[in-house]
Amino acid sequence: MRVGILTGGGDCPGLNGVIRAVVRRAHGYGDGVVGFRDGWRGPLEGDVMPLPLDAVRGILPRGGTILGSSRTNPLKREDGIERVRRSLADHSLDGLIAIGGEDTLGAAAKLHEAGVNVIGVPKTIDNDLGGTDRTFGFDTAVQVATEAIDRLHTTAESHKRILILEVMGRHAGWIALHAGMAGGADVILVPEKPFDLDEVCERLERRFSRGSHFAIVVVSEGALPAGGDLETFGAKTDEFGHVRLGGIGQRLEREIEERTGYETRTTVLGHIQRGGTPTAYDRVLATRFGVHAMEAAHEGKWGMMTALRGNAIELVPLSEAVASLRTLGEDDLREAEWLLG
Ligand code: F6P
Repeated sequence: MRVGILTGGGDCPGLNGVIRAVVRRAHGYGDGVVGFRDGWRGPLEGDVMPLPLDAVRGILPRGGTILGSSRTNPLKREDGIERVRRSLADHSLDGLIAIGGEDTLGAAAKLHEAGVNVIGVPKTIDNDLGGTDRTFGFDTAVQVATEAIDRLHTTAESHKRILILEVMGRHAGWIALHAGMAGGADVILVPEKPFDLDEVCERLERRFSRGSHFAIVVVSEGALPAGGDLETFGAKTDEFGHVRLGGIGQRLEREIEERTGYETRTTVLGHIQRGGTPTAYDRVLATRFGVHAMEAAHEGKWGMMTALRGNAIELVPLSEAVASLRTLGEDDLREAEWLLG
């Protein structure tokens, strides 16, 4: 058999690990794989590249994706579904392995409903996909953000400053919570629990009154004050309807400095947490997902997504996986109550 593979949405460390595992597992079966370039743009425009074994040699430690990525939405294109179907037929492909987050896999679920053979593989640094306990890319993002907090700690202490680190995660606080916990942040602000600025400042003042004269605040880009609005860069949305988030760090910087009198500065970690080499954990998870995705395709188990459940890789229906976002739950919030603003 022959399958196509694509990577859509925001890239993340580990994508190349999945591609490599799919190609190698396919080789074991005697199956062929081609890559579609730039997410859903590839099958919409019939833009393919061959993926022989040679093409995936040495890519496991490389961040990004050798296939390129985009936020193209096939459902927003006239004849989008038909064009994807035609592309598969033109290249004699039995189906498609789509690696992506809620948007890419949401489109994959709709294509499957329309009769296109698709298998999904969950990726995102945000770790917010339903159906799986983990997405690859998250561990690397947390590691990078934790290192940033460690570095901020030493300079915050030297200068007696409050340093704020703004991290990604869109509507999920996983990166902020895990990096903040690992880095020993004093206050962590996440989208799932709107914050009260008075309480945040009281918490910082209490710390100062105990003799510490610096503090670290980690804020998720999607965190917002109770009754307030999200900070965004304008109202422009991408093809999946998402606005660009960011700016909450700067807003907190002004308000916290004014209220506490402590010099406060913000660092926006941005795409640094999404680029570069994946951690060993993400390489292993990506490889396992790739192997299971190719096995599912070979066995014709279309419409499913690979998922980590406990320590096992299972297949779950794509429709179930994209039904709702997996944000921080009650238990996660309760466990971290003493850290959250
Ligand atoms: O979904 C992954 C993610 O990195 C989010 O955390 C973030 O909000 C968004 O993508 C940023 O996307 P872009 O790089 O397209 O601005």
